Amino acid sequence: MSAKIINGTEIAAQIRDELRREVAELKHQRGVVPGLVTILVGENPASVSYVTAKQKTSHELGFYSIQDNQPPDVSEEQLLKLIQGYNHDPKIHGILVQLPLPKHIDEKKVINAIDPDKDVDAFHPVNVGRLMIGGDEAKFLPCTPAGIQELIARSGYKTDGAEVVVVGRSNIVGKPIANILLQKAPKANATVTIVHTGTKDMASHCKRADILIVAAGVPNLVKPEWIKPGACVIDVGVNRVGEKISEKTGKKIAILKGDVDFDAAKEIAGAITPVPGGVGPMTITMLMANTVKAAKLAAGG
Ligand code: GUN
Repeated sequence: MSAKIINGTEIAAQIRDELRREVAELKHQRGVVPGLVTILVGENPASVSYVTAKQKTSHELGFYSIQDNQPPDVSEEQLLKLIQGYNHDPKIHGILVQLPLPKHIDEKKVINAIDPDKDVDAFHPVNVGRLMIGGDEAKFLPCTPAGIQELIARSGYKTDGAEVVVVGRSNIVGKPIANILLQKAPKANATVTIVHTGTKDMASHCKRADILIVAAGVPNLVKPEWIKPGACVIDVGVNRVGEKISEKTGKKIAILKGDVDFDAAKEIAGAITPVPGGVGPMTITMLMANTVKAAKLAAGG
């Protein structure tokens, strides 16, 4: 039987509807308007398109929103000063510096300069530590892992007691999603294994997974025979494998493939995310959720 397709576009739209209502309530009952600044250095086309999408969504939700464009040769010192200004601006609750940054700027220094209570990407070491401690400490979850947790929960899959296998140990997806799902908390409490390039027999681990999360960046890495029948498969891979002409716009667009052989896997899995249209649409939505949370926390919780 073919797997249920987990529609990230639909689930993201549902969460944005909930956020829209929350923002309206915050405004009317407490006079608080969530404020987000997205800082872009240079004109990397992928970064421009991500930042434009973030701005568009924040406007749609009723945020106070600033797009701060900096030239590619802005100095590290100037960028750090700019961040300090936003750290002290009471109208701004969330600060996002779009990565990657030009080579002359130290990304670590920039991330460390953001006030952890405005770090809606949750990349600051303080937020990484808070996530590991869990409970009330974890103010913001990084956006892609938070989106994965919501996709699993809202598709009706129970993580409590489940065997979760995460393929990949990146700081942005693998390590944080493993930490989130092992917490003793709702939508978590799983038994988590991380497999990676140093793992002896990746297939044997994947075959045990009730929930398989793949974030390796290798197209078609996961073979259908690695999947336990009925498992929930979350494919985080976004691999550009070629180009095609868009039927909608007539322009050249990238052909994207996940880390899982989707066509074969959907005949074995119970549920699976497509690429595109699975995890991708959730990331910006969870950034918006973090900004609303930051605004609430700044207003006293
Ligand atoms: N570049 C690609 N993805 C991201 C993201 O989630 N946050 C930031 N700040 N930069 C990115």
